[in-house]
Amino acid sequence: MKILVIGGGGREHAMVWKLSQSPKAEKIYCIPGNPGIAQFAECIDNISVTDKVGLSNFALENKIDLTIVGPETPLVAGVTDHFRELGLKIFGPNANAAQIESSKSFAKDLMIKYNIPTAGSEVFTDAEEAISYIKKQQPPIVIKADGLAAGKGVVIALTHDEAVKAIQEIMVDKVFGDSGNKVVIEEFLTGEEASLLAFTDGYTVIPMLPAQDHKRIFEGDTGPNTGGMGAYAPAPVVPEFLKAKIVLDILEPIITALREEGCIYSGCIYAGLMITKDGPKVIEFNARFGDPETQAILPLLESDLVDIMEACASGENKLQEMEDEISWYNGSNVCIILSSKGYPGEFRKGDVITGIPEAENENVIVFQAGTSMKDSELVTSGGRVLGVTAKGKTIINAVENGYSAVSKINFDGMHFRRDIASRAIR
Ligand code: AMP
Ligand code: GLY
Repeated sequence: MKILVIGGGGREHAMVWKLSQSPKAEKIYCIPGNPGIAQFAECIDNISVTDKVGLSNFALENKIDLTIVGPETPLVAGVTDHFRELGLKIFGPNANAAQIESSKSFAKDLMIKYNIPTAGSEVFTDAEEAISYIKKQQPPIVIKADGLAAGKGVVIALTHDEAVKAIQEIMVDKVFGDSGNKVVIEEFLTGEEASLLAFTDGYTVIPMLPAQDHKRIFEGDTGPNTGGMGAYAPAPVVPEFLKAKIVLDILEPIITALREEGCIYSGCIYAGLMITKDGPKVIEFNARFGDPETQAILPLLESDLVDIMEACASGENKLQEMEDEISWYNGSNVCIILSSKGYPGEFRKGDVITGIPEAENENVIVFQAGTSMKDSELVTSGGRVLGVTAKGKTIINAVENGYSAVSKINFDGMHFRRDIASRAIR
C-alpha cells in the first residue's frame, strides 16, 4: 500500500514510525514531514497542508491508497471532503464534523442536545453582553474564543477584571482574529484532567489507552499554556471502568450525534476531560490525534496501525470486526517535550541539536517536531523541538528511561519539565 500522511510535527513522526512497521506499508509519503520523519517516509515540502487540490493531485499521481490527516487545519479547510468527493480513501472527519474542534459553540450545542456531560456555559457574540454576564459570575471564570487559537484561546480568569480584559482582547482587539467573534463562558471544573482518544469509522468507537497531557510550560502546572509539554499513557486517573463509562456516555454519543446531524466522522476522536467528583466531563473535543498524546500512546500499540486506519477510513462499518483484535503493551510510555528558549512566546531557532543517536535505544525513541537541516546539521526550528519517548514495565521505569535519555540531548536554550507523569507516580 502507498500511504500519505499530512503534517510535520511530533505527532506525525510517531504515526509514520508506527505505520512504517506494518508489512502493508510499501511506501510512505509525508507532506511536509520533517528530518525525523524522513527516516521512514519521503517528505514533500512544496504543497501546503490546506491546498486540497494540490494534495489530491499528489495522491492521484502517486496512486496513494490511504491518506491520513494529522493536524486540524486541513480538516477545517475541507481536505477530507474533497478527497471523499474524488473517491480517495482518507482518515479524518469532514469539515462539518471537525467543527466539534473548530467551533466550541458548535460542540457545546451538540453536547447539550445529546445530553453529553460537560461544563455549564453561555455563548456570546456581543462583548458588552459578555461583560455584564461576567459581572454576575463567581470567579474563576473560564473564557474561550469560539474558533481555533492554537491551544491559546482559553483564559481562566481569577478576578472579574481579568475576565473583562480577556473579553476585550478576544472580542474587541481580536487577538485570535475571527476565532474571537464568539466566546463561550464556562463553569470552572475541578478535578484531574485526562485525554481519551479513540478510533472510529463513524459507527464503532474503539478507545486507545487513556493519556494525560501537561499543558503548562513550567513544573507544577505553572506558567502559560502550551501545545503540551509532555504526556504519558496509560493514565491511572482513568481506570478500566471509567474508560468504559467515557466511551458509553461521551464518545459513542458524540459520534452518533454527528452521524444523526449528517456529518461524516472517520478517524480519531479526542475527548479532553475533567474527571470531577460527579464523573467525567468534557472540556473540549479535538477532531484529530493529540500532540503529544500520540507520541505517548502509539508506541504502546501492538496491533497494525495500517489495518486500523484503513478500517476507520473505509466509510463502512468495518472497525467493528477489529474490536477484539486491537492489543496494547502491558506497560507505560512517557513523552518528554524539549522546547526552545522563549516558547510558548517568541522562541530561538537555528540551534544545533546533539545526542539523539546516543539517547535512542530499544525503549527510547526521539520524535522530532520543530527541527530542520542546516548545512547537514540538525537544528531547532520550532517551539516544541523534540519528544523524547520512553517505554517501561511501570511508569517509574518509563520516566527513568525518559529522563536518562533527555540527559544525553542538548541544544542551546533547551527547556523541559522535570515532572512529567508525576501525578501517576504519586
Ligand atoms: P482547552 O483548550 O479547551 O482544552 O482548554 C485549555 C485548558 O484550560 C484545559 O486543558 C484546562 O486545563 C483548562 N480548562 C478549560 N476549560 C476548563 C473548565 N471549564 N474548567 C477548568 N479548567 C478548564
Ligand atoms: N495535547 C493537546 C492537543 O493536542 O490539543
